[in-house]
Amino acid sequence: MGFVGLTTAAVFAEKKITVYGVDNDKNKASQIASSKAPFFEPDLEHVIRRTVNSGKLIPTTDLLSSISKSEIVFVCVGTPMKPDGSVNLDYIKKVSTQIGQAMKSVSAYPIICVKSTVPPGTTERIITKLIQSKSGKTAGQHFGIAMTPEFLREGSAVSDMRTPHLIVIGSSDENVQERMSAFFRKIYGTQTKMITTNTISAELIKYANNSFLATKISFINTIANVCNRIAGADVDRIADAIGSDPRIGNLFLKAGPGYGGSCFPKDVSGFIHYCKQIGYDPVLLKATDLVNRNQINIILEILNKELGKLEDKSISILGTAFKKDTDDIRESVSIKLVNKLKKARANIHIHDPMALENTRLTLGNNRIYYFSDISSAINSADCIILMTDWDEYKRINEKTLSMAKDACLIIDTRRILKFNLSARFRYIALGRS
Ligand code: UDX
Repeated sequence: MGFVGLTTAAVFAEKKITVYGVDNDKNKASQIASSKAPFFEPDLEHVIRRTVNSGKLIPTTDLLSSISKSEIVFVCVGTPMKPDGSVNLDYIKKVSTQIGQAMKSVSAYPIICVKSTVPPGTTERIITKLIQSKSGKTAGQHFGIAMTPEFLREGSAVSDMRTPHLIVIGSSDENVQERMSAFFRKIYGTQTKMITTNTISAELIKYANNSFLATKISFINTIANVCNRIAGADVDRIADAIGSDPRIGNLFLKAGPGYGGSCFPKDVSGFIHYCKQIGYDPVLLKATDLVNRNQINIILEILNKELGKLEDKSISILGTAFKKDTDDIRESVSIKLVNKLKKARANIHIHDPMALENTRLTLGNNRIYYFSDISSAINSADCIILMTDWDEYKRINEKTLSMAKDACLIIDTRRILKFNLSARFRYIALGRS
């Protein structure tokens, strides 16, 4: 019942499917049972409340009885990044083992459908094998195997789940493909595009999709870094123009501090590792990753050039969530920046409309101060850095900034401020000269 599992469970339950939401964390299961979402996601808590109350969503820790009553078992455990950048499959192995053990006493023919992002080959070589060896049963005879990657974005996961742009069904078993297609048709009707393929291509689709989007962002960040060095250049006009070419498309062309979150950094890195394992040097993906890691240095270069030594300077960070509408700070560039500023012995004042508590838990209090209103966070600031694209920041005006020091430096990594600042401030936007 993580981000993908809970959203999937709640929206399927909303579509009148009976869903057992299994988690090995008792507290989490009882939290969901009392209609509380364990993390913030717009709309999710409403859907949980409605579906738990209607009895369609049944949170539980009982994997065995849930599997015995289910036609399809979706595997949605995390596949985090190891310190060396490769994919940690420990949770996948653990849950496959548990499913295998449970399958020993299951007489029906369930389909085990992998939704977790896994390196190509994992579904057949690791998951299927583990289930077979622990259950003593055979895929294709006693249970089916499928892989359906998901494309949920945090902040709009519920609506992405309600109306996906695409359903991918990966299975090497035609009968399983048909049953999964019928299941998704029942939920989404005939309008939603569906692609049926084998499991390995389904696994690859997810990596290709996320790597392409990440590359698009690193591309526009490259253009932004060029714009920074040319008088009069503006990355947003360029993105607008190239995005109008239907071959390019206008989405994911917003230059910024670099992509973060629980998917892009981990998936690009995991894919690079996978490519190397099969004897291919993925230079394009390595460049995407490198451009992304370097974005933070662009911000630090500006800081060093404009402020000199950062020791005891008061720096306000607006936004620590990796993007707007979430309290998630995983792989957030803003968090990495705060750590660097702390090392340089600056005093850091942080504001975020939603991620303040998660930030405090991660960063602690040494040299870091937390504020729930923007005006207090920027009080006496030598520098303000806008990091997250929160709508609230678009409404900032000169009055909001009035308590900052004279000649305060403003670094706008996402070009959020929409008004002309007075000469009291020094304003630098990434992607503009
Ligand atoms: C992503 C994928 O979009 C989704 O399909 C997949 O299933 C999970 O990973 P998510 O991580 O929730 O979703 O966020 P997304 O909206 O894709 O943004 C990721 C990062 O890229 C954020 O840090 C965001 O600020 C950044 N980004 C996005 C840009 O810098 N510019 C853009 O134009 C778009």
